Amino acid sequence: MKMTKEEKYRLITQAKPGELAELQDKVNRSVWRQNYHIQPPTGLLNDPNGFSYYQGEYHLFYQWFPLGTDHGMKYWYHTKSADLATWDSMGIGLEPGGPYDSHGAYSGSAIEKDGRLYLLYTGNTRDEAWNRHPFQCLAYMNESGFINKLGQPVISSVPPGYTDHFRDPKVWKSGDDYCCVIGAQRTDRTGSAVLYRSKDLLQWEFTGEIKTRLPRFGYMWECPDYFELDDSGVLLFCPQGLEADEDRFNNIYQTGYVIGKPLNPLTLEFNHGPFEELDRGFDFYAAQTMLAPDGRRLLVGWMGLPDVDYPTDESGWSGCLTLPRQLTLRDGKLIQQPVPELAKLRKAMHSAEITLNNETKRLNGFEGISYELICEIANGDAAEVGLEFRAGGEEKTVLKYDGASNKLILDRSLSGQVLGEINGNIRRCRMAAGKLKFHLFVDVSSVEVFVNDGEEVFTSRIFPDPGSTEIRLFSYGGSAEFRVLKWDITSME
Ligand code: FRU
Repeated sequence: MKMTKEEKYRLITQAKPGELAELQDKVNRSVWRQNYHIQPPTGLLNDPNGFSYYQGEYHLFYQWFPLGTDHGMKYWYHTKSADLATWDSMGIGLEPGGPYDSHGAYSGSAIEKDGRLYLLYTGNTRDEAWNRHPFQCLAYMNESGFINKLGQPVISSVPPGYTDHFRDPKVWKSGDDYCCVIGAQRTDRTGSAVLYRSKDLLQWEFTGEIKTRLPRFGYMWECPDYFELDDSGVLLFCPQGLEADEDRFNNIYQTGYVIGKPLNPLTLEFNHGPFEELDRGFDFYAAQTMLAPDGRRLLVGWMGLPDVDYPTDESGWSGCLTLPRQLTLRDGKLIQQPVPELAKLRKAMHSAEITLNNETKRLNGFEGISYELICEIANGDAAEVGLEFRAGGEEKTVLKYDGASNKLILDRSLSGQVLGEINGNIRRCRMAAGKLKFHLFVDVSSVEVFVNDGEEVFTSRIFPDPGSTEIRLFSYGGSAEFRVLKWDITSME
């Protein structure tokens, strides 16, 4: 049931007596709680925020509305990890409700300076006429983990030429200066990203708009991120309002990137190639990256989308984060791979080698609802090869390669409880024929598929019956050899 505006914009401290306990009870009864993904204790999770490394640990916050699955009063929920595999819940990171974030502590990022972890975020406010007034606010966490908000915003107004859709600062160090990119909407209702510079994180100067080759590309760009990888500059952002284009842009909003020569932070020139979607799955948005101390560029996304209802809503929770991924560049393209630290989560292992010819075969002993699986497929002349997982009864989630169209296909139309049918339940992308490697992370209600060592990724929620546990392989129109490895993952420990 949707909440009224008054119900949505309540702080956790304004919950009715017994409301939270009742909500928690509902959540505890949900059959779709995840085993090893970050998920909210109750309520709604959306964007990852403040992904960073500080005092020997990774910190990862997320947008959180504690009291329900609507997009209501947003907090930052805090989690941290020593190894990127096991995350500790640290409770509320940023609490909204101040004069500059009266209607939510919206998305932002983190950076270390002088022994503190600074959190730069958008304070969302609404006036009596319900007009938005965004502020860019600063808080810091000290060594004891105590988070303190500054009394005044560091950017108090929207520059001329832009609307009040102005949010999601992502900060980084560039030489002696700090830069931050902010998602913006021009007054002509087109999306863009603007840059600010600062010497001290306190005083920010508006540099201007990043000069991309995408002058009219959607009506708003949310959650921008800029980073350099090898010798290239990458602008990651979430354009809203793109039309679907065959296999591309089938989700309600997109997350993607452009790559070019590094951005000139003074002239804001940025010569880049075409916009590419980062993920081919159904549920992926608002990804944020960080630079790990060993130089790796890591990324986490929200396994969900705005304006989409999820089957867990009626159980009082919604949304989770993806596993951390490492980004690299291969032939001018972003490659995403699960971080190797995730191997720590592996429990019992199973392996099999099998040749199939015009058949589907169930892999006995390979059942599960939560596991990592690597399936390599080679030496075949089959027209169609792939696997079915979370299968049983009428249900199955299908991942396959179709040789006739040279496409990878993820089909969740029979995955269990259907959702978002308006955007379809099949996702496809092109891939040249050849050996195939499917690397899956299946959790109770999600799957992340890394194809050919991260060349393509499909990230999706699925809502199968707990009894749908089978794994089956198939080869049609010829034969193929399969090598399969599977590790159970039962929890974050
Ligand atoms: C993206 C987003 C951001 C905003 C946040 C609010 O999902 O809309 O633009 O800061 O979520 O929760």
